[in-house]
Amino acid sequence: MTLAAGAATAQSGTTGCDDGETVIKFSHVTNSDKHPKGIAASLLQERVNAEMDGRACMEVYPNSTLYDDDQVLQAMLQGDVQMAAPSLSKFETFTKQFQIFDLPFMFVNIDAVDQFQAGETGQAMKDSMERRGLKGLAYWHNGLKQMSANKPLVTPEDAAGLKFRVQPSDVIVAQFEQLDASPQPMAFSEVYGALQTGVVDGQENTWSNIYGQKFFEVQDGATETNHGVLDYLVVTASDWWDGLDPEMREQLDTIVQEVSSERNAAVTEVDNEARQAILDAGGTIRELTPEQRQAWVDAMKPVWEQFEEGVGADNIAAAQAINE
Ligand code: LMR
Repeated sequence: MTLAAGAATAQSGTTGCDDGETVIKFSHVTNSDKHPKGIAASLLQERVNAEMDGRACMEVYPNSTLYDDDQVLQAMLQGDVQMAAPSLSKFETFTKQFQIFDLPFMFVNIDAVDQFQAGETGQAMKDSMERRGLKGLAYWHNGLKQMSANKPLVTPEDAAGLKFRVQPSDVIVAQFEQLDASPQPMAFSEVYGALQTGVVDGQENTWSNIYGQKFFEVQDGATETNHGVLDYLVVTASDWWDGLDPEMREQLDTIVQEVSSERNAAVTEVDNEARQAILDAGGTIRELTPEQRQAWVDAMKPVWEQFEEGVGADNIAAAQAINE
């Protein structure tokens, strides 16, 4: 498939873009403020539109207004959207390599994730989907995931028998099966309604998503398990990217890299603010004692064995070495 870069130039009537500008539609599923991805996408738009004015024009579509994550990669390959930043869990049908990020308790904190992504393996992973037509440009952090349900979750046994919404990832499905819970893959935009109506009992996500989607309003509370990572890959179609004028591609890439470094460095602050915003809005957050948290580790970590062969024992060892 060949997509000429010119195929995406603005026609009169395209909102906000001038005739002749290369239109870069960026689609994502979260809210724009108090959210790491929302803030980063808005900054990217601001910089592209200021610094590449007359040549390129970025339109950001947040809140799943253009596509859900299960549609966006296909739409990108068809040339209907040029950039997105789905969570790493959403790339499973394109590559198994990102499964390492879904393994519970793999990384102690977001700095360890950052170090792994910046290393040789993490950087090579960005190109792992080239043969499927997708090119990773940069990682964006969100944060560590927490558990929530319509009843208090203190011990892992509390999760048994409950239905949890999951992202479409075999690792996350296995993680909930390990807890004797029932994982239900579902689009992000449908989770609030499913929690509200009892289609599912619980979910796992980061503070910014629990706050941004108001999940805390329809849950008994969230338990601070910090059990997994939710990060993103800023992705584009290789054909579109390769078809750009080289100078434009270099400038766009520089802006993407600069925005990524700036916003990744600020992610802990955004995460903490979202956590506090949940409390300020009357949400419940349960903290675990070290012994209580260890029980979740013991219950979920055996999942690693199922995926070790695909993920690579050497990659797991490299990630663990960073934690020390
Ligand atoms: C989810 O589906 O829960 C997340 O990947 C949504 C997001 O983009 O943060």
